[in-house]
Amino acid sequence: MEQLTLIGPLNQVIPMTGISLKGAVSDSQLKIIENAGILFVGGLIKIVDSYKKLEAEVKDQDVKLIRLEGNHICLPGFIDSHTHICFGGSRARDYAMRNAGKTYLEIAEEGGGIWDTVQQTRKATKKELIKGIIKRAKQHLKNGVTTIEVKTGYGLSVKEELKMLHAIKEADEEFPLDFVSTCLAAHMLPRDFKGNSSEYLSEISEKLFPIIKKEKLSNRVDAFIEKGAFNESEIAPYLSKAIEMGFDITIHADQFSVGGSEVAVKFNAVSADHLEASTSHEIELLAKSDVISTALPGASLGLGCSFTPARKILDAGGSLAIASDHNPGSAPMGDLLTQSAILGTMQKLTNAEVLAGITFRAAAALKLTDRGKLKAGYLADFNLFHTANFNEILYNQGAFKPCMVYKKGNLIYNKHNS
Ligand code: NIG
Ligand code: FE
Repeated sequence: MEQLTLIGPLNQVIPMTGISLKGAVSDSQLKIIENAGILFVGGLIKIVDSYKKLEAEVKDQDVKLIRLEGNHICLPGFIDSHTHICFGGSRARDYAMRNAGKTYLEIAEEGGGIWDTVQQTRKATKKELIKGIIKRAKQHLKNGVTTIEVKTGYGLSVKEELKMLHAIKEADEEFPLDFVSTCLAAHMLPRDFKGNSSEYLSEISEKLFPIIKKEKLSNRVDAFIEKGAFNESEIAPYLSKAIEMGFDITIHADQFSVGGSEVAVKFNAVSADHLEASTSHEIELLAKSDVISTALPGASLGLGCSFTPARKILDAGGSLAIASDHNPGSAPMGDLLTQSAILGTMQKLTNAEVLAGITFRAAAALKLTDRGKLKAGYLADFNLFHTANFNEILYNQGAFKPCMVYKKGNLIYNKHNS
């Protein structure tokens, strides 16, 4: 028998329930349960209700009580739905060059850019990659992230992409966060490939996809639609093949130029991510579709460019997730809480919209229906913060971190012990 557990009393629980998947959200729509407790068993939430009521209810049962002292609020475990935390090396030199005024092309010509990370990642052993993933995942855990998506895309050959996928899978087995892997072999045309983009993509879809399916390494395929990466006509057969084989699609879209979000809508992608360059046309298209728009403020901060038009996307009726894009090039910070708080100030998002973007709307971007809310039957993934009012969290712009993080009912991070 799994141990029934009651945690509380909590000044506030913000369950993130009762809010629609799409559109703007006012702060008054946020449900707040005061003086609450959470009853869970077997890694799943049983009841979220008044602590006193729950205490009385379990009085005669075999229950473990986690009695909290002082002020605490509780939110669902955060979900980072877009990262590239499996990589070798560093691109600190790119960062310095970019800030010194060098262009993307100049940096690439001097040996920087994605291709540099591909070389470093290919040089790394699987073990070294796992070590790097876990090191970065620990940083995300301190931010309250309990589910993290991780992309490949720095291997760019069947063998090297498989090494990355295996590293992500083994990191998932070793570390208590849930890792959701995505195949981003369509990140760029590898410079050492003897052939054109279409030939490269055919090779990946014919040789790599079946192995991914057979070994159950991922059920998601991503592609970077951009000048210098892949265009619509090159990518269409690749995405069709992926869909035919049962993969979910996600797209790096409209980062520097438009085009990607149209592809995302056409291919019924679960999400279109970046969108910094989206205009009202793309925003309308996305809002009318079921594609989740994902803002990546870490990339805007890393590159020093504009933010995703999150306010416009929400006002048009779209769904907005917020993710860190943690990667060695454009988004080296990897701090979801700081970045989403900053996106909130820059785009005038309500606290409710920001919190939705890193909880249930991010879960939807990964097609996960068992997390991102605190309600019966959902995973007991939650964060406790030492405060009486949840508004303190975003107000502190990332400087205020959770004191405890629970994953499937287990305490996996305690600030006081680390
Ligand atoms: O999401 N836009 C393309 N890919 C990554 C950057 C990867 C890199 O620079 O290494 C992104 O920003
Ligand atoms: Fe990315």
